[in-house]
Amino acid sequence: MTGRIPDEKVNEIRQSVDIVDVISDYVQLKKQGRNYFGLCPFHGESTPSFSVSPDKQIFHCFGCGAGGNVLSFLMDIEGSSFTEALKSVADRSGIAVDVSFPTDAADQESPEQKSIFEAHELLSKFYHHLLVNTKEGQDALDYLQNRGFTLDTIKEFNIGWSVPSWDFTVKFLKKRGFSLDEMEEAGLVIRKEDGSYFDRFRSRIMFPIWDEKGRIIAFSGRSLNDETPKYLNSPETKVFNKSQILYNFHRARPAIKKSRQVILFEGFADVISAYAANVHTGLATMGTSLTDQHIQSIKRMAETVVLAFDGDNAGIQAAYRSAKMLTDKGMSVRIAEIPDRLDPDDYIRKYGGERFSESVIGAAVTFMAFKLSYFKIGKNLQNEGDQLKYIEEILREISHLQSPVERDLYLKQLSEEFEISYEALKQQQTAMYFSERKRDPSQFVSKKVAQLPLEKKNKLLPAYINAERYLIAYMLKNEDVTYKVKDLLSGESFNIDEHQAIFTYLLAYYEEGNLPSASSFLSFISDDKLRRLVSEIEMLTIQTEMNPVELTDYVHSVIKQQKMLTIREKEAEKKEAEKHKDYIKAAEIAMDIIKLNKELSLY
Ligand code: GTP
Ligand code: MN
Repeated sequence: MTGRIPDEKVNEIRQSVDIVDVISDYVQLKKQGRNYFGLCPFHGESTPSFSVSPDKQIFHCFGCGAGGNVLSFLMDIEGSSFTEALKSVADRSGIAVDVSFPTDAADQESPEQKSIFEAHELLSKFYHHLLVNTKEGQDALDYLQNRGFTLDTIKEFNIGWSVPSWDFTVKFLKKRGFSLDEMEEAGLVIRKEDGSYFDRFRSRIMFPIWDEKGRIIAFSGRSLNDETPKYLNSPETKVFNKSQILYNFHRARPAIKKSRQVILFEGFADVISAYAANVHTGLATMGTSLTDQHIQSIKRMAETVVLAFDGDNAGIQAAYRSAKMLTDKGMSVRIAEIPDRLDPDDYIRKYGGERFSESVIGAAVTFMAFKLSYFKIGKNLQNEGDQLKYIEEILREISHLQSPVERDLYLKQLSEEFEISYEALKQQQTAMYFSERKRDPSQFVSKKVAQLPLEKKNKLLPAYINAERYLIAYMLKNEDVTYKVKDLLSGESFNIDEHQAIFTYLLAYYEEGNLPSASSFLSFISDDKLRRLVSEIEMLTIQTEMNPVELTDYVHSVIKQQKMLTIREKEAEKKEAEKHKDYIKAAEIAMDIIKLNKELSLY
């Protein structure tokens, strides 16, 4: 959504340019029929699958799925914020942006925040100067260069040195008119009981920490020798929230958006090494465990997270925990295993970035494959009891897999490893599935929802998915059709979660009095993944006139699929009831199924 900028202003600015002109600055476009085509700037390709529609004022790549309006194009290609993209379009068409130009709420800095940012900016420059240009910083500079940081890297990451003095920073800030009270709240200085102040960071290698907009909001100081703590971080402040901040976020964003993938490291030193070795999608938490807030930020830009944690026990435990959280939030996760218990930084230094990308990141395994070894930790598999426990744990995990092909794969692996018949394993796993489902049906409910097929290119989609897409395409063009579909669905929802989300957005969009326009609707959606989908659907060529019979058919096909899923679920429940000899329950369910089948035949 557009924050505080009035929609009319956004629309005026957006409509002041032709998307074809703007994109032509970045991509060579050629006209073909109604649309323009070119090589997609968001993924490497040799035949053009990137298309721009002047009629609809949107773009879409049939290769990688990127898509959106002129503003999302600029945000993606420049890695800029919505406001920045809007400003650049306004500048381009000479729309006067007066001083009162409202900005994102988050862009509005209070005077106190402003002075915190300023202090960090000034200090980081000074610390950097001390490290790079002065004798005081020589030992630290030697240390950094010995561990493989080049001067370029030190510059890029603005690394510095804080001197051993107790009041260097205090004086530095005071001289420049900063309120020491505020600087204490910013975590840069500490107040003593007598009311005087001293420096928090002394004789440490200073790593600035940026927020998502690229403003320095904190420091992490590494001790040179073995002094503890190894890393001293700024405390939590008004602008530094460790459960939110991901190191390197602002720098990595364009690369992440392009590849739809994040590499998550444990330490920010790993991020820096990887970046210097041309691996630009790395992020790290500030030494804390991954939180839901971190995942939210990642999810807006990427679908996949590769965990590149240290190979020691703590790293493995953290990888398991993080992978579980990410999977629960619907992200696809892979785990990179770093050989010889090295940390990523050591590995990259030893073997270089290319080998890291290929042999470590490229060979990252699925969460399930990781679990196969994870559950062996602390067990002696020669011991029968441990072995049975292990098999049971793995069967439980297999029960949670949605894909029958995957379940089969791991059952076979298990069968081979322990020389147990596949049938016996399968039987136990199925029994487990039903008993667990009974105990905690919620675990399985969400999994019933159909997922959007990943490889949908050049493949025929099931009828109900097509129906849902065509309905969305129509609804994007026509408000009345949208309300009609809502009526016809009579409480049922779309089978594909993403489609339902778009439908919900669309209803809200029309309810706010907006007119049909794919390009303007795209600014209304905050989720990147959904925007891509909308642009893809919008590129479906459909007749402008809508035939009411067709509309009803499409909606019926959606409802039919919903009912069929429910019937399939009921059938499984019935089987289970029969297995437990609960014939009364089975009979009740059978009645439900008959009723549902009757309803189904009406569509
Ligand atoms: P180097 O020893 O410099 O290579 O660092 P590393 O990246 O190998 O660090 P390590 O794996 O020990 O720790 C990973 C992350 O945990 C670091 O990036 C820090 O954010 C955090 N961390 C490590 N040690 C400390 C500490 O003593 N205090 C705090 N607050 N955080 C730490
Ligand atoms: Mn390290």
